[in-house]
Amino acid sequence: MNTETTRVLSAMRPNGRLHLGHYLGVLQNWQQIQYQYKCFFMLADVHGIINNYQASQQLSETMNEMVIDWLAAGVDPSQATIFIQSRVPEHFELASLLGVITPLGWLERVPSYKDALDELEHTDGNTYGLLGSPLLQSADILLYNSHYVITGEEQAANIELTREIARRFNHLFGREDGFEEKASASIKKLGIKKAALYAKLLIKYQQEGDDEALATARYLLQDALNLSHGDRERLFAFLENKGKVFLQEPHILTGNSTRIIGTDGTQMSIARNNTINIREKPEMVSSKIRGMITDPARIKRSDRGTPSSCPVWSLHQIYSTQEVSNWVEMGCLSAGIGCLDCKQPLIDAINLQQHELIEKAKPYQEDSTLVKRILSDGCGRAREIASTNLKSIKHAMNIDY
Ligand code: TRP
Ligand code: SF4
Repeated sequence: MNTETTRVLSAMRPNGRLHLGHYLGVLQNWQQIQYQYKCFFMLADVHGIINNYQASQQLSETMNEMVIDWLAAGVDPSQATIFIQSRVPEHFELASLLGVITPLGWLERVPSYKDALDELEHTDGNTYGLLGSPLLQSADILLYNSHYVITGEEQAANIELTREIARRFNHLFGREDGFEEKASASIKKLGIKKAALYAKLLIKYQQEGDDEALATARYLLQDALNLSHGDRERLFAFLENKGKVFLQEPHILTGNSTRIIGTDGTQMSIARNNTINIREKPEMVSSKIRGMITDPARIKRSDRGTPSSCPVWSLHQIYSTQEVSNWVEMGCLSAGIGCLDCKQPLIDAINLQQHELIEKAKPYQEDSTLVKRILSDGCGRAREIASTNLKSIKHAMNIDY
């Protein structure tokens, strides 16, 4: 596959400040992959309010901070397209169109829907949006004919649904298997001269929109005696680009799957309130790490500890040099160092990384027009592609009059 035309889509819901789990698990990956593939990074604002529609007043501020975090992490708007879901209305149009062919049962059995239902506090929360959320996600992906979706393993079932919807669409409206090969075999049956003329007319019609060329090509096919009925139909379809739309079945690309542990010793997440955020102030990093849970067996300074049962150790493994790690291991096992001693080099290493992020974010914080411009540029580019693709999807569905 040509990596320049391999399209990758990824998205985040703007549900709060991003943390080190996002930075290490997702953003570093985006930063690298943007140079290999054509990347689309989306702020899934509507997904962000599906679970939480009362919270929409914070969206704009959360999104602004999120984009600044992306940029600070090295996402480059001249490489990747950064855009907002709701500013490309084609997403919702496609979701409705795909809804026409998506059996309700497929949506009802999506695990994330069942989980969300279990967590609902009020039956009013069981909205159409919740049920349709994976369908909207499918539209997000299929609209760009994305080859890959970067997302966590927990989204695997949603991506599988997307593949099923694409397959169903292709089966119902897309080209037959081996359509291109069959079409070129049919063209050969026209004979050299007529085949060349057909090819010329096809280009004139498809690239220049020349309707006369279309009419002439139709006559040519009608008069061609050595075409079978099937050949003729296929070449009519080929002319008009019908049966050519083919939604790409996406594959999942999981990023760095190391779980980043939060200050309470469980996986770092906004919901657990145990995060160290991107661009956190040095004194906050310090106080959060100093308050971080350690090996529960090490109660007194004189108790020996076991790094492998300590959440602080899991961060050392990410942030510390071999030398520091050896020092931690030996000092912990022998009770030679205290936990605060152990935490200090970690605090320093995290702050070193944070310093770079904070510095890179500064220009965007000082001049709010920069982010606005990046977004309006990205939304424009996304919209252009989305509207072209949606047009051919509607064409395939015969609703393009
Ligand atoms: N549903 C995803 C989440 O809950 C966010 C999302 C929306 C997404 N559209 C997407 C992820 C498209 C990948 C691709 O986090
Ligand atoms: Fe954890 Fe370090 Fe304390 Fe050992 S010394 S328990 S590794 S914080």
